[in-house]
Amino acid sequence: MLKVTIDGIEAEADKEITILQLAKKLGVEIPTLCHHDAITTYGACRVCTVEAGIPRSDGKLRVRMVTACNYPIRDNGIVINTKSERVLANRRMILELLLARCPNAKKIKDLAAEYGVLKSRFPSENPEEECILCGLCTRVCQEIIGKSAISLVGRGFERKVLAPFDEPSQDCIACGACAYICPTGAIKIEIEDGKLLIKNWKTSRELAKCLICGEYAGPEAVLQYIKEKAALPDDIYLLCDKCRRKKLQKELIASA
Ligand code: SF4
Ligand code: FES
Repeated sequence: MLKVTIDGIEAEADKEITILQLAKKLGVEIPTLCHHDAITTYGACRVCTVEAGIPRSDGKLRVRMVTACNYPIRDNGIVINTKSERVLANRRMILELLLARCPNAKKIKDLAAEYGVLKSRFPSENPEEECILCGLCTRVCQEIIGKSAISLVGRGFERKVLAPFDEPSQDCIACGACAYICPTGAIKIEIEDGKLLIKNWKTSRELAKCLICGEYAGPEAVLQYIKEKAALPDDIYLLCDKCRRKKLQKELIASA
């Protein structure tokens, strides 16, 4: 175990846990945008930046700004500050830049306001932009769903998330995991004429109807995916959640 001080709290930490993991354990709040516990860290948004004082051989601290979500604790006696004036000034600057990119994204506006940033000094290229390029959508698609239907492409101002060649992706099953995890609500899902649409990726997938109640049960491709992953029988996977639950309960009672 390593001795750690975080915002004046003395604690012990397992080697290699991240500053964010330790902060969560101790109830110290650090804002995050591009981090999710279930997905590998990427360090894209920088809002979690904190000060880390690493002990030197002469007993003094070498202070560095590090991203809490992906900085592993390796030094005994490390001193972390998540709310120093330097950290807060840095966070305000990052939020100002994010606000310039996404001036109307509620999540960004709310977080910026928490730090007293109500408007940005920097010009906004596109007031409709809601994507902060955090990459959570691409990582959930690859790591959790196993599909890689979308990726971050381009550089600088041209950088964006797209399906390959900005064409409708054959790999996208319209599961909606990307929209679920997106911190800013940049990914829009709509239902139109019996299809589920994710316009960001030009995805259009037929919705299947529940064999019992006739309501939409979900995109056919998603039901097929769940059937394969969970090895479900044919008469179960083409049901909506409600009817599936009822049917399984009935079968359970009948077999008792
Ligand atoms: S669409 Fe959402 S999840 Fe994907 S990179 Fe942009 S902000 Fe992140
Ligand atoms: S949450 Fe750490 S860099 Fe985005």
